[in-house]
Amino acid sequence: MQIQVGIISVSDRATQGVYDDAGGPALKEAAAGYGWEIAAEAVVPDEVRDIQRALREQVNKGCHMILTTGGTGVAPRDVTPEAVREMAVRELPGFGEVMRIESMKITPNAILSRNLAAVIDSALVICLPGKPKGAVECLGFVECAIPHCIKVLQEVPTSC
Ligand code: MTE
Repeated sequence: MQIQVGIISVSDRATQGVYDDAGGPALKEAAAGYGWEIAAEAVVPDEVRDIQRALREQVNKGCHMILTTGGTGVAPRDVTPEAVREMAVRELPGFGEVMRIESMKITPNAILSRNLAAVIDSALVICLPGKPKGAVECLGFVECAIPHCIKVLQEVPTSC
């Protein structure tokens, strides 16, 4: 199964053109390295409604997985987890647990990260840190569980 991926960079400053989005391209390269196809990309400000609109667009487009980068920290404008949780049918806490445990071996600031994974409709959504290096590292910590997770989420329920 060819995994179709959507990428959403959540950043006020990248949206305003203060700097170029670096997280999205870094994730795109990592995703391509895992053999996944990039089906959609977006850059949105740190606003719940904008994040949710981009998520809905990519889910409707048929993305099996959506990777977000940014907005997982403790700053007042960091609202990515809140935006995702409002739309999610369920959370997958193991992803956030593993990302934080492994990231703590790299930086003590990882304790501040609210990385998470959740399911919206039948798409897996993974929220990664904003720093490109952190986003790629965190994706690497959970990558091994992704194909099986997507396969199960995409399975058509059979009637008894
Ligand atoms: N995780 C890894 N693996 N590597 C990192 O460099 N940076 C941390 C953390 N997680 C980091 C990481 C930092 S500095 C912060 S503030 C939090 O993720 C939240 O990041 P965000 O606010 O950019 O989403």
